[in-house]
Amino acid sequence: MKPYQQLPIEFSILKQREFEQIRQFLYEEAGIFLSDIKKSLVASRLCKRLKETGYQNYGDYFEFVKNNLQHIEYHHFIDALTTNETFFFRENEHFDFVKQLIKDHSQKKSWQAWSAACSSGEEAYSLAMLFADILGIDGQWQVQGSDISQRVLAKAELAHYLLERNEGIGFERLQKYCLKGVGRQSGTFLIDDILKNKVSFFTMNLTQSCESVGMCDVIFIRNVMIYFDADSKQRVINNVIKQLKVGGYLFISHTESLMHVNHRLKQIKPSIYQRI
Ligand SMILES: C[S@@+](CC[C@H](N)C(=O)[O-])C[C@H]1O[C@@H](n2cnc3c(N)ncnc32)[C@H](O)[C@@H]1O
Repeated sequence: MKPYQQLPIEFSILKQREFEQIRQFLYEEAGIFLSDIKKSLVASRLCKRLKETGYQNYGDYFEFVKNNLQHIEYHHFIDALTTNETFFFRENEHFDFVKQLIKDHSQKKSWQAWSAACSSGEEAYSLAMLFADILGIDGQWQVQGSDISQRVLAKAELAHYLLERNEGIGFERLQKYCLKGVGRQSGTFLIDDILKNKVSFFTMNLTQSCESVGMCDVIFIRNVMIYFDADSKQRVINNVIKQLKVGGYLFISHTESLMHVNHRLKQIKPSIYQRI
C-alpha cells in the first residue's frame, strides 16, 4: 500500500452532473449549446484553467466561477469554451460583394460596418482594408468589431499577427496597411495605425442588447451561430437585426443558415440578407 495522494489534475474527471451544470451555465451566459460529444473537449479546455487556478476538481472550479461573475476567471472560463478560429478575407465572396456595394453607392455619405463576433480582429481589419481601398483611409467609414471573449479582443487591439496568417490580404494591401516585423518581430506583421485607428473593438454578448453599436450598413455575423441552438439563434438575430439600417446587408457564413429563424430580411444570396 502507498500513502494516499491527491490525484494530479490530469486525472480529475469531469462528472456528467458537472458537465451538465457547466453546459447549462454557458448556455444561459452566452447562448452557446454544447452537445454531449463536447464533454471531453470541455474537460480538456477547463483542465488548463484548473492548473492555472490551482483547483483540484471541476466541481469546485465551476462553483467559484458561477459565484464570482465579476472575477477575471469568469472571462477565462468563457474564453476557454469558445472557438475563435478566423482568418483574413475568410469567405472572400462576401468581401467581393461589399466591394461592389461600396462602388455602386459611391455617393453615399458614410458607412458603418460591424463585425459581430470578430474574434481576434481579422474580419474587422479585412473590412477596413476594403473600405480604405475604395473610399480612402480618410473616407467617411468606420468599422466596429465585437466579441464576447476579452482574450481575443485583446489580440484584435494588438493587431499583431503571424506572417503565415496573412494569406488573403495580398501584397499590395500588406504594403499599404501593414508593417512587417523585423529582428525579434520577424515572422509577424502589425496592422498600421492609419488603418487601426478606423477600427474600434469592444466586448459584446450577442444574446443581450446590441444597441450601443448604433445603426449599421453592413453586419458580418459569421461562424458564430453554429454554436447556438434555435432559441439562442433567434435571440441573437433579433438583437443584431435591430442594428441594421433599412437597405443594409447582413452576412452569415456559407455553412450557417437562417432556416427556422423568424426575420424580415430579404435573402439576396444563400448567406447574404438585406433589410427592406
Ligand atoms: C469562430 S469565431 C468567428 C470569427 C469570425 N466572425 C469569422 O467568421 O472568421 C466565433 C466567435 O464568436 C464568439 N462568440 C461566441 N458566443 C458569442 C456571443 N454570445 N456573443 C458574442 N460573441 C460570441 C467567440 O468568442 C468567437 O470569437
